Amino acid sequence: MLLRRAHNLVCYWRDGSFVIQNYLAGPEVSLAPVAAEILAAFSEWASVDDVTASFPDSDPDSFRAAAGELHKYGFLVSAEDGDRDAELAETWQTWSPEATALHFSSKDADYTESAEVNEDFRAGRRTALFKNYPDADRILLPRSPIDLDASFVRTLYQRRTHRSFKQVDLPLPTLSGLLSMVFGPSEFLDGQDFGALMKRTSASGGARQELEAYVGVFAVDSIAPGLYHYNCLEHSLELLDAEFTREQAAHLSFDQAAVGEAAITVFVTAVVERMSSKYRAPRAYRVMLMNAGHLGQTFALTATALGLGPFQTLAFRDSELEDALGVDGIRETALYVLAAGLPDGRGEPHYTAGLAAFQKAELYPSKEQRR
Ligand SMILES: Cc1cc2nc3c(=O)[nH]c(=O)nc-3n(C[C@H](O)[C@H](O)[C@H](O)COP(=O)(O)O)c2cc1C
Repeated sequence: MLLRRAHNLVCYWRDGSFVIQNYLAGPEVSLAPVAAEILAAFSEWASVDDVTASFPDSDPDSFRAAAGELHKYGFLVSAEDGDRDAELAETWQTWSPEATALHFSSKDADYTESAEVNEDFRAGRRTALFKNYPDADRILLPRSPIDLDASFVRTLYQRRTHRSFKQVDLPLPTLSGLLSMVFGPSEFLDGQDFGALMKRTSASGGARQELEAYVGVFAVDSIAPGLYHYNCLEHSLELLDAEFTREQAAHLSFDQAAVGEAAITVFVTAVVERMSSKYRAPRAYRVMLMNAGHLGQTFALTATALGLGPFQTLAFRDSELEDALGVDGIRETALYVLAAGLPDGRGEPHYTAGLAAFQKAELYPSKEQRR
């Protein structure tokens, strides 16, 4: 029988033990580090006897037994084992191993509350829900409600990603309304063991509200440009860096013009412990990404309803952005970059051109192209 090293393996040390996991096939297994050397010899399909012969210093019987164990755990695969292994490598391509390891090793896991976690919360060991900069100069934002003359359906269809903006100031109530509607509390609740919790207009797994908003203000009536933290409880902007520029914001987003031209940019981070203190399984990472997506969509729809053009990107220089925000990237990590400004019209969709392109396009792959 021919064996090959599974494509979807990760090896690391956990609590001092060397562990290997085939994240498609099963849990991590603690092994002697020499297992990695044996696995390295099975890069291509090979028989155990051939590989055994290439380790003349090893006892052949124990070598064969070790190879058998590696096969049993799914670290070596045979043709008969089915080809899910190759299929995943082919389909997810360069996402492997980082995203695939996370995605597949956290699949099917129950990440909901445990008694132990509840006990921590009940005993008052709770992660702070709000972040503030008590010593920062702050601008208390107006709480006057904004008048939205926009129907829900119209807003949904009008939402478009905008990439160029008029160079005019946004009225202060527009920024203030946008921030409070997207990032501010819409309600508070008694989370029992989990303490007082906040709700927002977007759904958030476990109402953990691990997401923070930092605002690069570039063109807003009566607010000095700079980088601020949005204190959602107080509804204020806490000044972090008065020197923060459009150019810096654009650089942080790999020089995307939209970020450089927008009136404001919102950097969304996650305070990881707010989520990980309750949900201890890695699957909760995915909840965090979903939560950021929800806030992004609410941001885009609210901006649209306010007559603004929204933009969103995941193309940003994580480490530099985290430095600029003054967060460590581990306890608090950057997740999403949002921006908005008054659209200049150039980013509007061109329906006619779009339809013509669609008519010319090959809508279905030919038989030869089909896989
Ligand atoms: C998570 C995410 C990341 C995106 N990143 C970028 C980006 O880096 N640059 C960009 O120009 N557009 C980006 N977009 C915008 C998409 O290209 C855009 O949504 C898509 O073309 C559809 O157009 P629409 O938003 O106007 O419907 C991103 C959108 C999402 C949801």
